[in-house]
Amino acid sequence: MSEPLVLVEPQYPLAVVRLNRPDKLNALSPEMLRALAETLEALNAEEAVRVIVLYGGERAFAAGADIEAMAKAGPVDIYLRNTRALWQRIWAIDKPVIAAVRGVAFGGGCELALGCDLIVAGETARFAQPEIKLGIMPGAGGTQRLARAIGPARAMEMVLTGEPLSAPAALQAGLLNRVVPDERVLAEALELAAVVAERPAVAVRLARQALRYGHERTLLEGMELERRNYLLTYDTQDQKEGMAAFLEKRDAKFTEK
Ligand code: COA
Repeated sequence: MSEPLVLVEPQYPLAVVRLNRPDKLNALSPEMLRALAETLEALNAEEAVRVIVLYGGERAFAAGADIEAMAKAGPVDIYLRNTRALWQRIWAIDKPVIAAVRGVAFGGGCELALGCDLIVAGETARFAQPEIKLGIMPGAGGTQRLARAIGPARAMEMVLTGEPLSAPAALQAGLLNRVVPDERVLAEALELAAVVAERPAVAVRLARQALRYGHERTLLEGMELERRNYLLTYDTQDQKEGMAAFLEKRDAKFTEK
């Protein structure tokens, strides 16, 4: 039996998902994307898991789509492979996902990190959309999410040159949440995940949804979504408890309901 492409380590209420194709720098083959989508969906359905940390190991978060699997393909092959559907499944996860990035996050690896909610990176991590050097272009958010994250000018430069951004430059550009010493990446991502996991679960998911989906809509539609989700938080036990605890000057005991 070969090694699983994706490993899961539950650390309730957190779960670490680890891409496990180190010899190919976690190149995202269709099989890898499928394994990742299935793993994330299983964790999404598991009530005890509140926040997911996605990690790729020391050398690479992921070095992009699997070039070997693409080199001889034509557009119809790529279309029929339908990796878009796998990406959609990954993006549809509705629990917070934190990317813990060491080494390279190139191509689809950069796009995978961009699709997460928070990114913690090691100081020598590098981010790039190098597809242009292969005669193609980004196909999983690298021209869209990247531009929204760091602005059109910087995204244009990354996509047209294919050159990497260092972690400090990516932090400054607004792509990352934290840059930490390489060996601290997973620990810091888990610490950040633990803070989010302590917050009221329903409010976390509603706020996250407003941020993620609001981004894809007009300002007015985003504001409507925000207002709807805001109102919904008043229907949670945690809202009653959170406000009562504040007024009674005590710590809140959230029920996750
Ligand atoms: N697809 C398939 N295999 C890949 C890969 C990818 N995207 N990225 C790396 N690999 C493989 C290499 O072919 C090599 O396999 P081998 O040992 O069987 O020859 C192995 O992973 C290690 O990569 P290597 O290039 O030897 O490591 P490096 O440290 O010298 O360079 C990178 C690291 C990331 C700079 C380099 O691997 C690279 O440029 N990868 C492609 C990045 C890319 O263009 N991504 C977008 C794809 S659309």
